[in-house]
Amino acid sequence: MAVKNPMTSDFLHSAYCGESMAHMRYLIWGEVADNEGLPNVARLFRAISYAEQVHATNHFREIGGKTADTTVTAGGVFGSNKTADNLQGAINGELHEVEQMYPVYLNAAEFQNEAGAKRSFNFALEAEKIHAKLFQKALDAVKSGKDIELKSIYICPVCGHTILNEPPEKCPVCGTSKTSYVKF
Ligand SMILES: [Fe+2]
Ligand SMILES: [Fe+2]
Repeated sequence: MAVKNPMTSDFLHSAYCGESMAHMRYLIWGEVADNEGLPNVARLFRAISYAEQVHATNHFREIGGKTADTTVTAGGVFGSNKTADNLQGAINGELHEVEQMYPVYLNAAEFQNEAGAKRSFNFALEAEKIHAKLFQKALDAVKSGKDIELKSIYICPVCGHTILNEPPEKCPVCGTSKTSYVKF
């Protein structure tokens, strides 16, 4: 079902753009981390990049409707510096989504009775909370001159839920089964 209310629709467009840019930015920053000899930070960027792709895809689907042109504006972080700077940029972006953007968008969708958008915003909000913590852990390691210690990273392909080491029997956010999780 396509979104009906223009305000929630605008928020979906903006969130779609923000997630699309985060997806791409994390791929770029993953390459930078690889070049700095930080393969686990690079893998973390790639895994979380995939989670942002899941969010962008969900928002895109909720916009729905007919194929049409539109112009969208979304805040984006630019610049590719040292990995420590990039990780701080990533943390700032994730915290903006957790503390301001998604709570506001979620409230608007709830107020306007947009069930699909509400679901999509909630999926993203829950994953971004985890992303902020993981990027902080990576930054702490890099600041002490080391790569982050990481085994496997698992991403839920439906909601972007992100977890280290082992996927749960069922995704705690959307209920998707363990076997569907994508491993990085
Ligand atoms: Fe994120
Ligand atoms: Fe999920």
